[in-house]
Amino acid sequence: MRAKKIIDTKRDMIDFHCHILPAIDDGSSGIEESIKLLAMERDDGVDRLVLTPHFYAEKDGKGYFNKREKRYMQLLEAMEGAGSGIGDIQVKLGAEVCYFPGCGEADIMDQLCINEGRYLLLEMPFMQWDKNMVSDVEDLIEKRDIRLIIAHIERYFPYQKDMSYWNEVFSMPVIPQMNAGAFIGKWLKRRRSFKLLNQGHEIVLGSDCHNVVSRRPNITSGRREIAAKLGKSFVLTMDKRAEVLFEQL
Ligand SMILES: [Fe+2]
Repeated sequence: MRAKKIIDTKRDMIDFHCHILPAIDDGSSGIEESIKLLAMERDDGVDRLVLTPHFYAEKDGKGYFNKREKRYMQLLEAMEGAGSGIGDIQVKLGAEVCYFPGCGEADIMDQLCINEGRYLLLEMPFMQWDKNMVSDVEDLIEKRDIRLIIAHIERYFPYQKDMSYWNEVFSMPVIPQMNAGAFIGKWLKRRRSFKLLNQGHEIVLGSDCHNVVSRRPNITSGRREIAAKLGKSFVLTMDKRAEVLFEQL
């Protein structure tokens, strides 16, 4: 009972994946919704997060960066004036970079790293992975020295009939991210998600929240489900990993 209380009332959690940056993708519609989302994150116990608006190479050109910077400045200003502790939430600017063929050699990948560092959140294709995808991942890591956080790994897993490419990707030093929502809700989805944890994937959590209605901040709910199934020490190890990673971003 006591352990559950500690888990439930944790106030210093990190969200590594969210669409809270206003009016740039299919996430927050504007500043007002962004501030509401941040208030929800704060109420949920999150005090640090990475802003990860979608980046699609085929439609987002160089203009993406100006727009993203402008939205980021607007958000920081609004956070300062919002009160209720919202200005104390620590945010880092990144992107959720949708995989594209040849991304392993694309110059733009450097600019898409989180907080102008060396970590990048990569969204892999929702299909059977192949050798070209593995090769791009390998190039990003080995030739470019980019450290990859692989977004919501549970969402690609059902497509991998041939597991060899999946196994190759996760044999590399990548950081798997899972959505908190993967551990909440439908039984089949939950079972699949826990299977990934049981296979040893050392994950960090993200909410992947998009709005205040249907895809809301939910780190605490997901974390509570993981604690209930795998125990307090499992989530504490996960928290520690998240702390170390966030500092490196
Ligand atoms: Fe996302």
